[in-house]
Amino acid sequence: MDRSHASILVIEDESAVRQGLQDILVAEGYEVETAADGETGLELVKEQPFDLVLTDLALPGLGGMDILKYLVHHQPDCLCIIVTGYGSIKNAVASMRLGAFDYLAKPVDPQELRLVVRRALEHRRLKWENLHLKKQLNRRFGFANMVGMSEAIIQVFDLIKKVADTDSTVLILGESGTGKELIAHAIHYNSSRREGPLIPVNCAAIPQELLESELFGHERGAFTHAVRKRLGRFEQATGGTIFLDEIGSMSQALQEKILRVLQDRAFERIGGTKTIRVDIRILAATNQDLDKLMRRGRFREDLYYRLNVIPIKVPPLRERVSDIPLLVQHFLQEFSRKQKKPLKRLSPAALDLLSHYPWPGNVRELENLLERLVTLSEGELVEVADLPDKFKRHPSAAALGPRDFPEQGVNLTAAVQEFEKDLILKALAKTDWVKSRAAALLHLNRTTLLEKMKKRHILPKPDQVSRPEKPS
Ligand SMILES: Nc1ncnc2c1ncn2[C@@H]1O[C@H](COP(=O)(O)OP(=O)(O)OP(=O)(O)O)[C@@H](O)[C@H]1O
Ligand SMILES: [Mg+2]
Repeated sequence: MDRSHASILVIEDESAVRQGLQDILVAEGYEVETAADGETGLELVKEQPFDLVLTDLALPGLGGMDILKYLVHHQPDCLCIIVTGYGSIKNAVASMRLGAFDYLAKPVDPQELRLVVRRALEHRRLKWENLHLKKQLNRRFGFANMVGMSEAIIQVFDLIKKVADTDSTVLILGESGTGKELIAHAIHYNSSRREGPLIPVNCAAIPQELLESELFGHERGAFTHAVRKRLGRFEQATGGTIFLDEIGSMSQALQEKILRVLQDRAFERIGGTKTIRVDIRILAATNQDLDKLMRRGRFREDLYYRLNVIPIKVPPLRERVSDIPLLVQHFLQEFSRKQKKPLKRLSPAALDLLSHYPWPGNVRELENLLERLVTLSEGELVEVADLPDKFKRHPSAAALGPRDFPEQGVNLTAAVQEFEKDLILKALAKTDWVKSRAAALLHLNRTTLLEKMKKRHILPKPDQVSRPEKPS
């Protein structure tokens, strides 16, 4: 890295030590400022951002711990290294717990100083790049409030983009909590009907005897309580989209009536004779297995084929494990913002456990967990101990023993794709994204690696976008 760009503040009251530290760091090519006491140091920090602060622990007045606390809370990008005399190692350890990057014991060994400072700046650079990469991923893979970067979800995003601006009926299939409703919204708001209404109807939540009048409306006097005419949801959706959610729960009688709306966009209100024509787009969703319902005679075949013009299958979360870190980040940001709390992080070990859990409740379960963690966990870092016990018992798909093989099964193709992506990312990280070296590590030639990266949607590292690698 270009060292001359790193700026360091040294806070030390003993002038000889201060001068010594400054000389070593200047010789290394850093820009160095100094302060002889904590108050001056804090003023400098407030005036201009430093990349790194090196502070003595025991200063007259404002001490090293106070400087550290200020930095951790107000300038988390600036790292802090504590310098301490013999005898106060215990304090130094406490400072690490508070968030110091490292500590150095006096008399400071020049070699050690150079090393620790270099490591700190490197750490800072990686952290920044990581953040930048995540932002870039979010921008690229976020779609209408949906985040995800797995092979499977990108296919879903692509399909949404393709069908959104048509009038085709779309059937959204997926387990509970996979994001079916979010997809219906994405389709409507990316269509030319976006200015029109989006009318959701939850066919499972409304009693079937009421559902008919809810959908079709009724004329005045159609039944005992029909004191005035009422427009149904189909009519309310005119110019927009109707979203028939939980379509698998609809009664046989209603299924037949819906069929006609699908075919002709026409119906009569209950108790009416006039045929009403509506200009609507129809979206439907279910978490039930419609094939099975059809075989059992509980879902009409003709309706199924009318609805199933364009199916969008949303894969369960356990088949797109690479979405988990992005979703975690997304929900941590959302809940921290909503609850006005500082942004929390998950320890790598905790994230690893979440990646190995089968998520029967899918994204909703993950969302609920993170809301709970943001609300309940103390401190900024969420660790394994903060997670409920159920997360601590699930091995990864690759490490499954015959007995813990999940009831719902494992999608082999998806698991292999995830494994491949994971391994490629690790090889790239190991070789600092030098693709020829990563390819060698994976026993592939460079072209094959590039093809796989493209296929698995692995982006080049951000700082390489403008500085392409020399062909090897
Ligand atoms: N890819 C995603 N990115 C961000 N949030 C998501 C994503 N997928 C789902 N969610 C969130 O997860 C929760 C559940 O999603 P949604 O209600 O769309 O699921 P569903 O499939 O309709 O579930 P159900 O079958 O239980 O009705 C919602 O709060 C939604 O915002
Ligand atoms: Mg839903």
